[in-house]
Amino acid sequence: MSVRGYDRALSLRELLSGVAPGKLSAALTVLLGAPARIVSADGGWVMDDVPALIESAKRLPLVHDLEIAGFLETTAADQGHVRAIAIILESFMRSGARYFMASEMHIEVVKTDFEELQRRHEALTASEARYKALSAHLEERVKEQVNTIESARRQLYQAEKLASVGQLAAGVAHEINNPIGFIRSNLSTAQSYVQKFQHVAERVKSSGDAALAGAWQSADLDFVLEDFPSLLQESVDGADRVARIVSDLKGFSNVDQAGEEIVDLNDNIRSACNVAANQISNRADLKLALGELPKLRCKPGHLSQVFLNLLLNAAHAMKQRGEILIQSGVENNQIVIRFKDNGCGIPPDILPRIFDPFFTTNDVGAGTGLGLTVSRDIILAHGGSIEASSTTDAGTTFTIHFPIRNT
Ligand SMILES: Nc1ncnc2c1ncn2[C@@H]1O[C@H](COP(=O)(O)OP(=O)(O)OP(=O)(O)O)[C@@H](O)[C@H]1O
Ligand SMILES: [Mg+2]
Repeated sequence: MSVRGYDRALSLRELLSGVAPGKLSAALTVLLGAPARIVSADGGWVMDDVPALIESAKRLPLVHDLEIAGFLETTAADQGHVRAIAIILESFMRSGARYFMASEMHIEVVKTDFEELQRRHEALTASEARYKALSAHLEERVKEQVNTIESARRQLYQAEKLASVGQLAAGVAHEINNPIGFIRSNLSTAQSYVQKFQHVAERVKSSGDAALAGAWQSADLDFVLEDFPSLLQESVDGADRVARIVSDLKGFSNVDQAGEEIVDLNDNIRSACNVAANQISNRADLKLALGELPKLRCKPGHLSQVFLNLLLNAAHAMKQRGEILIQSGVENNQIVIRFKDNGCGIPPDILPRIFDPFFTTNDVGAGTGLGLTVSRDIILAHGGSIEASSTTDAGTTFTIHFPIRNT
């Protein structure tokens, strides 16, 4: 702390600032028995603006700190008296100087303290603002983290469900693939056997043997030989379908730890259709209008999960037998996939909530209300988007967009 002007020379006015000027000049006049006034050394200040005295008035210097600070002017004749008064005035001036310095110091100290307090207050306000900003930021970060964890938890929950189906399928697939393999191979062999029979049939019919022809006709072998190849073909197709369904189911066995691959999403749509076929077939006809798609780098297991969710939702929306149409194609340099159904539709007041976690209109135990939440999270994680539009009692369309990226 530094006290400004601590040792400067004080003016007469300052030295006498502790005395009321009117009262002092009145007291001087009484004490001296004649008019008197006090004037500063340079004549610039006259105490209480007492008018000038006659020219013959005496001037006695008033000394402070070895310097003449002013004069006592009076017409009083008794010089001893005047000197005594001057001495009293000088002692007033000394105590005035002490008072002035003390009060200046006090003011300076208070001012410095106040400035220091102000500085601290400003620093505190700034640090409070910093803490507030930090805590707001922290709250935001925590919210973000909670959302991320929640979304991961939901995905894991659904993925685990599917993965356990997939693991079961993988186990069953091992058992099924073997018999399906020899059924398929035996059917191919049977097809070649039938061809041999067809050659023989021509010769039997042209042999002219009436008994043989009678037996042939009564067993309706013409029809048998005609129907046999298509029976076998249907069986081959059936065996192929079983093999495909098993392999599609197996595709879900690692959805909880799926990595990225470059795939044609139409394959994933078909595979989800195969997996859901059983649940769809008794409720709706499934139509596919899949256009050519550029290959996409993605987590195929996750996207199959999305397609399965949308298919099952569409199937559940059927109050009577209906139709589900899946379209795919490229629009505006984006992959677009639509799932359209003509089921019960979604009322406008519910539509904004269908992607909310745990929102379901299904009975307790029939749905968790996570299907669409997880689907949206997965699509967003792929940089895509999903929207729903719906008309009550007319049907619902879910539209998915993916930016094209395969690097
Ligand atoms: N295609 C649709 N038609 C009509 N309503 C639908 C359709 N898809 C979704 N919804 C509505 O949105 C709700 C939420 O769907 P979501 O898939 O998230 O959950 P959920 O199907 O009820 O349960 P789950 O967790 O088993 O999928 C459904 O309960 C249903 O009311
Ligand atoms: Mg669902």
